[in-house]
Amino acid sequence: MSQVHGSPHAPSARERLVLPLDVTDLLTARRWIDQLAGEVGVFKVGLELFTAAGPDAVRAVHDAGAACFLDLKLHDIPATMAKATASAARLGVRFLTVHAVAGPAALRAVAAEAGDTTLLAVTVLTSMDDDELESVGLAGPADRAVERLGALSVAAGVGGLVCSPLEVAMLRERLGTAPTLMVPGVRPAGAAHGDQKRIATPGSAIEAGADFLVVGRPIRDAADPVAAARAVVDEMQGALARRSQASA
Ligand code: C5P
Repeated sequence: MSQVHGSPHAPSARERLVLPLDVTDLLTARRWIDQLAGEVGVFKVGLELFTAAGPDAVRAVHDAGAACFLDLKLHDIPATMAKATASAARLGVRFLTVHAVAGPAALRAVAAEAGDTTLLAVTVLTSMDDDELESVGLAGPADRAVERLGALSVAAGVGGLVCSPLEVAMLRERLGTAPTLMVPGVRPAGAAHGDQKRIATPGSAIEAGADFLVVGRPIRDAADPVAAARAVVDEMQGALARRSQASA
């Protein structure tokens, strides 16, 4: 599978689980970090928390010994994206998102500044359907646009993609094993779907070739979030074992 598989230091199931800190204040974020730092490997800091708390949110994740996924979805001129990427890399974040539609020049510019940070391109937001794509002048259908923008991003030197679980198999086939695939829209069997429509279970997403799974509400809204996170990790573990047997 991707560069993170098969290496002597391939991440464990726990290290592949990402908890999004979808909250707007640092105090609440710290509570989630304290409660779940032993259960997940990565915490995602997105626009809502970063706008409120800034780099302190990233530091809170690092202080707990976890990795940070800074989900800022950069989209600007190449020079500005490159400088923002350099600033994020200086913070030591493990992952940073950029929009693929920023174009090849911008993607090459950010790749040059990423250092040890893995850049993940967002192709087509899952909130956009074919009609919305057309209204902003992007050639659809959406799955073709995902494939085209994914290929363009990887060719520009971006390390991976954020994608829906249902896109994982297609992207693996098209792009091979190297790109890191970060996959939200994951729901354990029986969990509420919320507003997620294109979903899969943790096990099926891993078996399809996902590297990291972003699981928020099924863990945060559970009566016992620690137990919920452990159940997801167990399911991922089983799928990783099946995946390595299948490729042996
Ligand atoms: O609570 P839930 O598991 O749905 O959270 C998923 C996280 O992944 C949220 O932070 C959401 O913004 C993010 N995300 C997503 N779908 C995408 C890209 C990001 O759900 N296509």
